[in-house]
Amino acid sequence: MTYLDEKNTRTALKNYGVNFLFLEETDSTNEHLKRVLSTSGFSDPIALVAERQMKGKGTKGRQWADDPENCLKFSMLVEYKGMEKYLPRLSPLLALNLAEIFQNLDPSVRIKWPNDLIKDFGKLSGILIEAVRKDEKLFLIFGIGINLFNSSELNREVNRKISYLFEEKKQEVLRRSEVVEKLVISVLKTISPCVEKDDIVFCERWKKLDFFYDKIISLQSPTEQLTGIEKGITPSGELKLLTDGKIKEISNGELSIVL
Ligand code: BTN
Repeated sequence: MTYLDEKNTRTALKNYGVNFLFLEETDSTNEHLKRVLSTSGFSDPIALVAERQMKGKGTKGRQWADDPENCLKFSMLVEYKGMEKYLPRLSPLLALNLAEIFQNLDPSVRIKWPNDLIKDFGKLSGILIEAVRKDEKLFLIFGIGINLFNSSELNREVNRKISYLFEEKKQEVLRRSEVVEKLVISVLKTISPCVEKDDIVFCERWKKLDFFYDKIISLQSPTEQLTGIEKGITPSGELKLLTDGKIKEISNGELSIVL
């Protein structure tokens, strides 16, 4: 049983100069693309969808749970030719580009710093970007997991609220292909050279979809907890937290927002 029309998806992605790989099963789509890069090298961007992911990787070494029938596991390998100083903001920027594109499907989609898509307080999508250097070039693997249709299996397995992009389970095959195309467009937009100059525009766009903007939030790391008012992000992707009358800038990886 496959949940994606491989041929149609491949044809659609050709229009963007992107090759398409489809697997029934793999450990992690990010890891699979790393192997492709090391064995076959790179010519054009490659998008990969795996029906089932056995060892899906989340951020901070966590696992990413899967229900093949209802979730989409996608990774895309690209060569990054931009300036390295912009790397830290790529993951918030990708979350923003995805949220903007999914707004057409569901206007309640929002972003949560640094790179989650949320809806009705539940996590809808997660992003894991990995970098690989090869032959003095820098390659990026954009891994995206999206919950498409309500899954009682996932609701049971995952210990927090999850949201799903589509309320009703219909036109699954078509919708999957359309979502894959939207992911490809969002990744290409994220690495496009013109985004690098748009500092102010980036922060303003973020503010519009930031679920926690101007709200009191708590941030947590294993050793620290901070509370304050969320004030959006800096051009380089740090979170701005108003605490004790001052803006504190918090880097991705230091602390996470507690829901
Ligand atoms: C997160 O923890 O929020 C990030 C989750 C990223 C999951 C996706 S699923 C496709 C790709 N392959 C992986 O192993 N992880 C990412």
